[in-house]
Amino acid sequence: MNVKDETGLVPHWSRRDFLLASAGGALLVAAGGFPRAAQAAPLLLPALPYGDDALAPVISANTIGFHYGKHHKGYLDNLNKLVAGTEYADLTLEKIIIATAGNAEKTAIFNNAAQTWNHSFYWQSLRPKGGGEPPAALKQKIVAAFGSVDACRKELVTAATTQFGSGWAWLVLEGDKLKVVKTANADTPLAKGMKPLLTIDVWEHAYYLDYQNRRADYVNAVLEKLINWEFAAKNLG
Ligand SMILES: [Fe+2]
Repeated sequence: MNVKDETGLVPHWSRRDFLLASAGGALLVAAGGFPRAAQAAPLLLPALPYGDDALAPVISANTIGFHYGKHHKGYLDNLNKLVAGTEYADLTLEKIIIATAGNAEKTAIFNNAAQTWNHSFYWQSLRPKGGGEPPAALKQKIVAAFGSVDACRKELVTAATTQFGSGWAWLVLEGDKLKVVKTANADTPLAKGMKPLLTIDVWEHAYYLDYQNRRADYVNAVLEKLINWEFAAKNLG
């Protein structure tokens, strides 16, 4: 199941994909030759793209342990419980997000689906020995949109530090223009027709064990030492 798609994301398999891939569909047919009700296969937690101590000292193994092992996994476990037996059980994670965005009756499903997706995207937005300068094609677009890479970094810091309460700072493509945006709580640019390129999690669980209330120190350190510009460049498509 740990196969990366063209975006570099480990895909969340739908129940149908899982059944087809794992058994060629044969498991769907019972001994008597009649299709039986398939058991919904849960969405899977993608493996971290690096060891849990690989981002230290900027983000400690302790933080990663709770953040990935408890928070990210918790959202995914909640989501699997919420969609079991519903119209959403067969959908990919991305389709669940789009289908439930803005629907007040489906807030719990949206929140857990979006948080699951946002976290998978966040882990890939970071890498050991990250930071530095973006690859040429991305740098050119950044300079065109913001004036300089430094100006883009500053906008990301501002978005991340001015997000009131929990949320996310993002570099996105809207149409063919790069923008920095922030979202609150579980919200995601994916639900607003934008194409996310990278993100920084600014929920307190992302930094409190290492930085306590110093969110700006966490954000600056991430941009300087961990941000994965190559991942963002790949997402440009
Ligand atoms: Fe988080």
